[in-house]
Amino acid sequence: MEVEVIHHDIVLVGGGGAGLRAAIAAVESSPKITVGCISKVYPMRSHTVSAEGGAAGVARDDDNFDLHAYDTLKGSDFLADQDVVETFVEAAPRELTQLEHWGCPWSREPDGRVAVRAFGGMSTKRTWFAADKTGFHMLHALFQTSMKYDRIQRLDESYVTRLLVDGGQVRGVAALDIRTGKMRAVLGRSVILCTGGAGRIFPFTTNAAIKSGDGMSLAYRAGVGLKDMEFVQYHPTGLPGTGILITEASRGEGGYLFNSEGERFLQNYVPNKMELGPRDMLSRAIIQEFDGGRGFEGTYGKYVHLDLRHLGEKVIDKKLPFVRELARNYVGIDPVYEPIPVRPVVHYMMGGVDTDIDGATNLAGLYAAGETASVSINGANRLGSNSLTECLVFGARAGEHAAKFAAGTSDGNEAALIEQAKAEAARVETLRNKKGGEKIAQLRREMNSAMESGCGVFREESSMESTFKTITELKGRFADIGLEDSSQVFNTELIAAFELGNMLDVAETVALAALHRKESRGAHTRTDYTSRNDTDFLKHSVIRFAPDGPKLDYKPVTITRWQPEERKY
Ligand code: FUM
Repeated sequence: MEVEVIHHDIVLVGGGGAGLRAAIAAVESSPKITVGCISKVYPMRSHTVSAEGGAAGVARDDDNFDLHAYDTLKGSDFLADQDVVETFVEAAPRELTQLEHWGCPWSREPDGRVAVRAFGGMSTKRTWFAADKTGFHMLHALFQTSMKYDRIQRLDESYVTRLLVDGGQVRGVAALDIRTGKMRAVLGRSVILCTGGAGRIFPFTTNAAIKSGDGMSLAYRAGVGLKDMEFVQYHPTGLPGTGILITEASRGEGGYLFNSEGERFLQNYVPNKMELGPRDMLSRAIIQEFDGGRGFEGTYGKYVHLDLRHLGEKVIDKKLPFVRELARNYVGIDPVYEPIPVRPVVHYMMGGVDTDIDGATNLAGLYAAGETASVSINGANRLGSNSLTECLVFGARAGEHAAKFAAGTSDGNEAALIEQAKAEAARVETLRNKKGGEKIAQLRREMNSAMESGCGVFREESSMESTFKTITELKGRFADIGLEDSSQVFNTELIAAFELGNMLDVAETVALAALHRKESRGAHTRTDYTSRNDTDFLKHSVIRFAPDGPKLDYKPVTITRWQPEERKY
């Protein structure tokens, strides 16, 4: 099979917040370096665009780096690496200010200072925001800035199916041009993965359909470990039915949560933080209210009320206009006059591609950043608004370090890489024409339902075991899928098949890591092991691919200045 060959110094997979920040950092670090930016969607459609509430970074005199670090570590249930967190909090304000210089319109206080709002688990106001459309504005600023550089060349609507590895080093990717069906070998001396998370392994999520764990699976299949995959974040306030996010900013601005008895029930769970408790605790509290018969019943199951009425129309329109728009359009409720129905919904993967503090993986030349990666600032539970900043801080570091790596290494064996890409083109062709008996949508439904039943907010041994078994079986059945569409141009069924394969890889690692973590920590809450167990489990899980099934291992957590303590709010 023929493939087109393209050369760059760096190949970047993903055009969202972390990816664009990495691309800009790479070209700014050297006057000659070129970046090939491959994205399966037009970059402004990346999931960063739908981030709402804001990005954390110390901004006021009542705040400092140690406090931001401590909040983050406590939020993580002490599973985050403390050296990484210290680097993160120090770089955060610089990155957020840089973004303003690139055009991000941060909301302001009347005196002209950048406005900051409260967010869950944070001791003080430190979340920078652009009303409640922060992701849109951040992504816009990054995208426009990236377009200043001719040396960032985009391959939009292209789908990476494999990393090309030679001599123990990654040297490019094989990518399908979705618009034409043509295969390319995009060669480079380093590769950065910034493809976002994998929320779509679950049935009910805030995540866009594109979040199918592609980068995680690409790295995993190339021998890189996936770290802390058991930790899946449920956001407490999604809309029933669609899972659309109702931002935590609505509680940061003063919104209340009520159960069906009209009680602000969080006083029974996190009395000192109430609506601004961390997400894992709030999600558990809501499920416990449901289980106690104090939820409302609706077409899409149980929910509680998020009440913003006391904030008034002026504040809602100024600070939460998107919440008003979403509630009106998707549940027919105007939050100025009525409470919004909400329930916990899968939002974020704390786990991901195991990287060091520079975004480097154990495969030479391969870097990852953003939700794709687990650089270990989030541990067992991420604090809201840390992830947009994470995309900036660690996107930039990955870009700079990938550029340094590319400058210091030689080209690989091009003929061998092209042969790999040709073999990959043949594999794509086989899949396009596959006529097996299994349907993609059916397998995806079964995967979703298995993940929800075994790896939801509350977990226990037998349901996790059964989820793991189901996912293993689904992987077997996946080998016999059939496609109805064998066309070349915009074959979305073919992309869905690749995405399903990737999601099954990721789902299997989530279930396996969850099954073996016999404790409760952060978002991993077991009904059979209800306490945190630092003696046996103050460690990161790392899962590696093997042909006969995933292999689970552990590695230590880095502690610098904060000894793990009981997590009380
Ligand atoms: O609720 C939100 O606006 C989400 C923010 C985040 O996940 O960081």
